[in-house]
Amino acid sequence: MLEVNDLNVSYGAVNAVQGVTLRADVGKVTLVLGANGAGKTTSLRAIAGYHKPKSGAVLVEGVDLAGSRAHKMVRNRLVLVPEGRRVFGTLTVEENLRIGGYRASRSEVEATISEVYEQFPILSDRKDKQAGLLSGGEQQMLAFGRAVMSQPKVILMDEPSMGLAPTMVDSVMTKVREIADRGIAVLIVEQNADAGLQIADQVSVITRGTTVWTGAAADADRAAVHAVLGESALEGDVDGH
Ligand SMILES: Nc1ncnc2c1ncn2[C@@H]1O[C@H](COP(=O)(O)OP(=O)(O)OP(=O)(O)O)[C@@H](O)[C@H]1O
Ligand SMILES: [Mg+2]
Repeated sequence: MLEVNDLNVSYGAVNAVQGVTLRADVGKVTLVLGANGAGKTTSLRAIAGYHKPKSGAVLVEGVDLAGSRAHKMVRNRLVLVPEGRRVFGTLTVEENLRIGGYRASRSEVEATISEVYEQFPILSDRKDKQAGLLSGGEQQMLAFGRAVMSQPKVILMDEPSMGLAPTMVDSVMTKVREIADRGIAVLIVEQNADAGLQIADQVSVITRGTTVWTGAAADADRAAVHAVLGESALEGDVDGH
């Protein structure tokens, strides 16, 4: 569904990403792990069309869309759920969702909103509430719902668990799994490797802007993750086991 080959992205003279290779498949969760500053956000933003890559391929269903702007990526069914959720705080939950469905016709929007409310009951309960008054976890659900409104085939997620209470982290991760199970290819960046590994099928590890390891989540054992990423990757991990 999504294949990213040898992606290179720079900020002026700084080569933040140099050789990132990733893939995401329908119905699967691909977890991207990497230390602070490894180039995870830069990769996702370049893939989603918010920053032009220097080189590399971004294939969506076999078509190379590298360098296309974000609105074109959304039309091609690839959407980014950005770091920090970025909901429109002064708008209601439903208004936020309608913005996510901007590319669809009115009847499509109504049908998709109903589906989103079914998939995210908390958003239905809160539909007339100002998004800025929601809890962090609820805002994350809204960010997911807004992405689903664009009827994507690929969803990129940048650290959805960031800043959430541990119980909320579990429900957010469960929701990520459900989104994939509905037939979407999910590519998720997480600093919380433990939480990510609970739901991932595939794992890619990025170190200093390069993909250094890709494999099945079952093979990404804690020792390997620990070796590549260091202590911080496994929260609550006291003795390394
Ligand atoms: N706007 C920018 N201008 C210049 N350099 C940047 C910019 N954004 C990021 N960088 C640099 O690019 C590299 C990759 O940053 P990026 O934010 O992609 O890392 P990350 O893996 O998402 O890190 P984190 O885990 O902290 O979110 C870092 O060295 C960072 O300092
Ligand atoms: Mg980041």
